[in-house]
Amino acid sequence: MVDSLSSSLRRVVVLGTGGTIAGRAASGGDNIGYTAGQVGVADLLGGIDAPEGLVLVTEQVAQLDSKDMDFGVWVQLARRCAFWLAEADVAGVVITHGTDTLEETAFFLQAVLAPDKPVVLTCAMRPATSLSPDGPQNVRDAIAVAATSSAQGVTVVCAGVIHSAMDVQKVHTYRQDAFASGDAGPVGYVEEGAVRRLRDWPRSQAGGNSRILEADEKAIALWPRVEILTSHAGASGALVDLLLQERAAGCADPMRGLVLAATGNGTVHHALEAAALRAQDAGVAVLRATRCTSGRILPRPDDKLRNAGALTPVKARIALMLELIGKAG
Ligand code: SIN
Repeated sequence: MVDSLSSSLRRVVVLGTGGTIAGRAASGGDNIGYTAGQVGVADLLGGIDAPEGLVLVTEQVAQLDSKDMDFGVWVQLARRCAFWLAEADVAGVVITHGTDTLEETAFFLQAVLAPDKPVVLTCAMRPATSLSPDGPQNVRDAIAVAATSSAQGVTVVCAGVIHSAMDVQKVHTYRQDAFASGDAGPVGYVEEGAVRRLRDWPRSQAGGNSRILEADEKAIALWPRVEILTSHAGASGALVDLLLQERAAGCADPMRGLVLAATGNGTVHHALEAAALRAQDAGVAVLRATRCTSGRILPRPDDKLRNAGALTPVKARIALMLELIGKAG
């Protein structure tokens, strides 16, 4: 399938949030010793011409190293996406983002917005000051996807590959082609500005999750605390018990959810599992997600703890957080 640009589309909005793509190093040869989130999004578009018939609009939503991403920025980003997507002449939104938590932001936006227009996150593994930065080509490719008439949902574009927000994971610490989509495989590729699609775009759902978009600052600050603990050789239940003690002592922000980064098909060290069952009995929502980078947890009849299917632990955490917000009101 080769998807064509729509003749009626007019604006693609590029929202900046920081990351290596906006990073600055002291020398062009340094691809790791840089500071992320330094160059403004308007400057990132400096050498990039808008494809014919399109106008590019930029907006700086945040300027951070994505390891420091938080709920407040996510909500702000979701709101700005919703605002721009509601404009009739906006074809789609591109978000420049750090690679480190990009898959979490993408999953969050898909879960909250499920937009019927494209929201395309892109990034870079080399800073803007690099002798050979990868950011400009990634941005060009992301704009091509955002301007594609049939595109919808939240995707990630990196190194010419289009990934669904549901499946994408960062899999490499250094290579420019740093993302993969596991068993699902990529949605498609961008080749010289043309989108070659292999499978369906992420689903869209009218209205998305308006509750998140409407939350006030106080509600955002009180978003449910969901922790992730890893099952591994020699694991114990000690941290779960500490978190339960803190909860019982009436702390201001108690653990409300717990994701277990489980081994293989969702198995958990017996000591950690016993503690997780104690947590579940005490009212904590517990979810098992596999540590494996591919595959899904296949349920077994004797399972006592719910599983997150194909979601990675970090995505399972977001899903559980949104579930708890949904139940709160
Ligand atoms: C970040 O995630 O903001 C820094 C790392 C990167 O973008 O590759």
